[in-house]
Amino acid sequence: MTIRTLPAKHFNTTGPCDPRRHYLLPPTPQLPQVRKLIERDRYFVLHAPRQTGKTTILDALASELIAEGDTAALSFSCERAKIFSDDIAATEAILLDSLREAADLSGWLDELLPPDSGPEGQAGTRFGKALSEWCRRCPRRVVLFLDDFDALQGTSLISILSQLRHGYNARHKGFPFPASVVLCGLRDLRDYKVASGGDPARLSPASSFNILADSLRLGDFTTDQIAELYDQHTQETGQEFTKDAVHRAFELTKGQPWLVNALAHEITSEMGVSGAITTAQVDEAKERLIRKRPIHLDALMTRLYEPRVERVIRAVMEGILPGTDAYLHDEVSYVRNLDLIRGSGAPEIANPIYREFLLHHSPLCADLLRREQQGPFTDEALTEARMRIFGSPAQNGGRM
Ligand SMILES: Nc1ncnc2c1ncn2[C@@H]1O[C@H](COP(=O)(O)OP(=O)(O)OP(=O)(O)O)[C@@H](O)[C@H]1O
Ligand SMILES: [Mg+2]
Repeated sequence: MTIRTLPAKHFNTTGPCDPRRHYLLPPTPQLPQVRKLIERDRYFVLHAPRQTGKTTILDALASELIAEGDTAALSFSCERAKIFSDDIAATEAILLDSLREAADLSGWLDELLPPDSGPEGQAGTRFGKALSEWCRRCPRRVVLFLDDFDALQGTSLISILSQLRHGYNARHKGFPFPASVVLCGLRDLRDYKVASGGDPARLSPASSFNILADSLRLGDFTTDQIAELYDQHTQETGQEFTKDAVHRAFELTKGQPWLVNALAHEITSEMGVSGAITTAQVDEAKERLIRKRPIHLDALMTRLYEPRVERVIRAVMEGILPGTDAYLHDEVSYVRNLDLIRGSGAPEIANPIYREFLLHHSPLCADLLRREQQGPFTDEALTEARMRIFGSPAQNGGRM
């Protein structure tokens, strides 16, 4: 019999991290408040932009809670419900299917598993009934993580939130229901209120949201955390990242988790670098990444098709400070939650890699550059205009 050994660890750029295969920062210490809220039986939102480690942290939390022995913690994705925005029955069916599938994959004992078949009853009650039936039978306290919760839209979103609220309120009268529920996605609490037709300024007693404690946001990596992550590669292979190279990686990415991994992956797996890794190689990796247009970066461009995103990015690139009116404030906060911009006073593009990518590939930038450019549209004039809009190469984190 051949025993299959796991391949060497590497920097992950495709989906959630697996501690057996990937270098990763221990996910749960990044958000100690999450454990506290779960222990206090709260329902809350955990939000962060794309590719920042949401699924990785939920999987790690579920494993930790299960290992402690008195909790059945399950994370499952709502992604597949995306196509059923106003079909409540179909949304409930697909969510229950995803829940059951995740439980089956977890390798739990039968007594912990949610019921096999969906419950009877009116559409709009089935999801809550199934959770209640599961909690009634399960000998452990149930904790549920609904990942990719933003996939829910329209009346389906309202229905699922209402059912959670109904169960949460009835728990105190002995109704079996999950002890804690975490809704995880890109949106913060305020955006869910808007999406379900609620007034973001108020939490009315009838609001589906008044069960939710608050929103928590995952942060970007610090320079020390990047050093810690890159050091795992050094420990495994003996190849070092110089201190300056780590600082450069922070400057270029501002700690965006996927970008931090992507730079290191490019250097260690694609560029065939031997010996210590220097700033010049980090810069080269950045150039290669921008040229390759990976999905993570290309998705920035897709975002610009949304008029409110385009308006904000254009204003930021033109250096026009957003006004203080509530409407624009909501738009800026939406774009900030997508992680496209950062800073509160005068927002800027989130990191030099995004900025340079937009500069190279977005039609919006070509517009700006054309407007900036008074004379003939030559390469030199273009470079000069780029310098005026985006700053010097040094400020811009590298060559242009
Ligand atoms: N704990 C971690 N340590 C190091 N890198 C991480 C960690 N968590 C996430 N990453 C990086 O972020 C990437 C995305 O991780 P993950 O899929 O968990 O994020 P996500 O926020 O759920 O993404 P999506 O928005 O696509 O659902 C990983 O491929 C990896 O590059
Ligand atoms: Mg995810």
